[in-house]
Amino acid sequence: MLSNDLTAMLQIDYPIIQAPMAGGITTPELVSCVSEHGALGSIGAGYMTPQSLRQHIKDVQKRTSNPFSVNVFVPNTFNVSEEEVEASVNQLRPIRKALGVEGGNPSLPTPASMKRNFEEQINVILEEKVPICSFTFGFPPEEVVAELKKENVILMGTATTVNEAILLESKGMDMIIIQGSEAGGHRGHFLAERDQSLIGLMSLIPQVSDHVTVPVIAAGGIMDARGLVAARYLGASAVQMGTAFLTCAESGAHPTYKEAILNANEDDIVLTQAFSGKWARGIKNTFIDDMKGYTSVPPFPVQNTLTSAIRKASADQYNPAYMSLWTGQNPRLATDLSAATFIQHLVQEVKVITR
Ligand SMILES: Cc1cc2nc3c(=O)[nH]c(=O)nc-3n(C[C@H](O)[C@H](O)[C@H](O)COP(=O)(O)O)c2cc1C
Repeated sequence: MLSNDLTAMLQIDYPIIQAPMAGGITTPELVSCVSEHGALGSIGAGYMTPQSLRQHIKDVQKRTSNPFSVNVFVPNTFNVSEEEVEASVNQLRPIRKALGVEGGNPSLPTPASMKRNFEEQINVILEEKVPICSFTFGFPPEEVVAELKKENVILMGTATTVNEAILLESKGMDMIIIQGSEAGGHRGHFLAERDQSLIGLMSLIPQVSDHVTVPVIAAGGIMDARGLVAARYLGASAVQMGTAFLTCAESGAHPTYKEAILNANEDDIVLTQAFSGKWARGIKNTFIDDMKGYTSVPPFPVQNTLTSAIRKASADQYNPAYMSLWTGQNPRLATDLSAATFIQHLVQEVKVITR
């Protein structure tokens, strides 16, 4: 139950991966603590500049010599018109005013700037000899796969359907992370639309396991030993847990955010694209309600940039109403333990229920 080909490949004691969570959650303290305690810590580098990624990696390496991973966003092409941006800016204006957000609009990302950042992030991963690299929002270009493989970096891709998993294996991924519809944060789908890519983990694990030969990692709503054992029985080699680590002491999530999760129920959790232009799962709040009825938002990452100052002001004011509170569908099981104690309890509980 606790050791298999995947744990041997990743050189970890337990088939437990702390999900990469972009946006300041995966502090060096969290990542290194997880890796020091037999699981795999992951840096969510999606929004990082190459410089801050390098510093982050060095800070983790100072704290642990065990393996950890870095996760990057595969850049997507997107088109956005001035009218779309203006409509969103107008929509957001009253919220900015209410929160006292000053200043003009930030400079917006372009497909070219996203691609450049991604390529520089990959260079940092190679230069700093990161042993494991995971991707979401698609698959990396062939030359990136070749470069990373030349340096023996283990590659993981994120799939939300069987077809995505098959494609990721054919593109050279060594392991496939499957993201069930329960998962907190952004949906990783890239082949079909949202509604065709919202498969529950219980259906996704066995079907993907039957169709790929590489190890499968299950993500979405897994919070304790019951989820881990169930995922293993269904065919997953490991689990990737986001929300469960987000509320841990070492996570960089804002205290108001942690508190919102610790007080949330499963029916508070919804899908929205209002914050970033990409569908994501989190706790319903005033911002999501205010944006209802607004049929089109600029694509990711443009909308994400346009809402950035609002989310920051809301967090600075310890006000959860306008923060993005990404959470999976299992918040009642969240704890505020330290990551070390959380892993120890989890492993102990797995041993008890599989005895
Ligand atoms: C706050 C938050 C941020 C996330 N950021 C990323 C990310 O940067 N990259 C990624 O591959 N997955 C990201 N995810 C998704 C996780 O990898 C995983 O699919 C999800 O956390 C599993 O569901 P759970 O939260 O119920 O455990 C994020 C999830 C959360 C909750």
